[in-house]
Amino acid sequence: MKVHDGLNDQIKNEFYAAYLYLAMVAYFEEKHLDGFAHWMRMQNAEEIAHAMKLFDHLTDIGGRVVLQAIDQPPSDFKSPLDVMRLSLAHEQHVTEKIHELYGLAVEERDYATQVLLQWFVTEQVEEEKSVGDIVGRLQLAGDSPEALVLIDQERAGRTPEEVGEGAWPRPPPGPAEEALRTCSGAAFSATSNSPIRPFGRSLFGPL
Ligand SMILES: [Fe+2]
Ligand SMILES: [Fe+2]
Repeated sequence: MKVHDGLNDQIKNEFYAAYLYLAMVAYFEEKHLDGFAHWMRMQNAEEIAHAMKLFDHLTDIGGRVVLQAIDQPPSDFKSPLDVMRLSLAHEQHVTEKIHELYGLAVEERDYATQVLLQWFVTEQVEEEKSVGDIVGRLQLAGDSPEALVLIDQERAGRTPEEVGEGAWPRPPPGPAEEALRTCSGAAFSATSNSPIRPFGRSLFGPL
């Protein structure tokens, strides 16, 4: 059952990422970089959604969720570039962990977990690209406050649609999602990957 242990580890890694990004939100708020703070808040919510996706999966396959202690994230950052470099390094670390876990799932012939992890593999490509792009733009900006303000304003434009699954704040539900909220539990559970379940099924309570 190494895969189950690995899934529990990864739940912790995703929660640590959420915690780390929350520390970064605090830094950006302190520096009055509201666009970056907004962007990082979305990252924070997305990581919680990732953790809950793994949590639900482990429960669904009959595993036992054992929550682990989450390390204290750093609180001293040198600059916005330092923050985003750290964020990129962390995403690269998470990618490695996902790949290791995928390898275990292959070894153990855990096909359901392989399917779930394929989603995470794709997600990590997007995560590294979006954070890497910001690192690149901050490097181009150098020491220019004007350029930093411009990049901050760009970050303020991040929408839940851009983030995809796990985004928060979420857009209002469409007619199909409203209909699902009011129909049977069977139909609800059939949409376990629906965006109406951002932080796990329990958020909405029994239908
Ligand atoms: Fe994640
Ligand atoms: Fe991430």
